[in-house]
Amino acid sequence: MTWELRRLTRADLPLLACWLADPDVHRWWFHAFTPEAVERDFGPGVDGLEPGEDLLVLQDGRPFGLVQRAVVTDYPEDLAAFERILGPVHPAAVTLDYLVGSAEDRGRGLGPQMLDAVTRLTFTERPDAPYVLVAVVAANRRSWRALEKAGFRIVGSGDAEPDNPVDLPLHHVLRRDRLPGE
Ligand SMILES: CC(C)(COP(=O)(O)OP(=O)(O)OC[C@H]1O[C@@H](n2cnc3c(N)ncnc32)[C@H](O)[C@@H]1OP(=O)(O)O)[C@@H](O)C(=O)NCCC(=O)NCCS
Repeated sequence: MTWELRRLTRADLPLLACWLADPDVHRWWFHAFTPEAVERDFGPGVDGLEPGEDLLVLQDGRPFGLVQRAVVTDYPEDLAAFERILGPVHPAAVTLDYLVGSAEDRGRGLGPQMLDAVTRLTFTERPDAPYVLVAVVAANRRSWRALEKAGFRIVGSGDAEPDNPVDLPLHHVLRRDRLPGE
């Protein structure tokens, strides 16, 4: 199985809108999914106007999922949220958010493989990143378990604003360190 990452393009936005409209994604990725909303939220990234990257994940060449990747210092409010839970965070640490697009691909153990591949590619593409951090709302057990299966471990828990207002604020922060040779 091969995993690749490439920048999201405008031609990918209809597919992304379909993924975001899936109730099982919408529950956790609480984004609007009309064409206008997707253009508003992802168009600036496509045009290179955002510090973070919106990446399409390809599994054996086919679109499989979306990953948002940023250096923690790219978004000061995210850095502050991590530091409230963890204390000082390395300025070159990278943070991810992600989804598996198709319902048939979820719940089969593929998400952890995607997260492992994305983390390895990130360590290659970002040689100064000492670790990857992800904050997950505690109720999203499937997501933090997928991270654990991809070699992450919970390094802190605390309150942060949930994406979906139905959730309680408790989040887990998970971290995977670069191993020697990675
Ligand atoms: C989160 C996500 C990437 C996980 O990938 P996945 O391929 O579905 O994960 P897996 O099939 O490996 O399942 C991971 C764990 O969750 C469990 N799980 C699967 N479906 C579940 C469900 N509906 N509810 C609770 N746990 C579930 C699995 O049993 C496994 O745990 P285990 O190893 O203890 O048995 C994927 O489900 C997804 O994209 N979800 C929607 C968007 C989302 O939540 N993004 C993350 C935002 S932080």
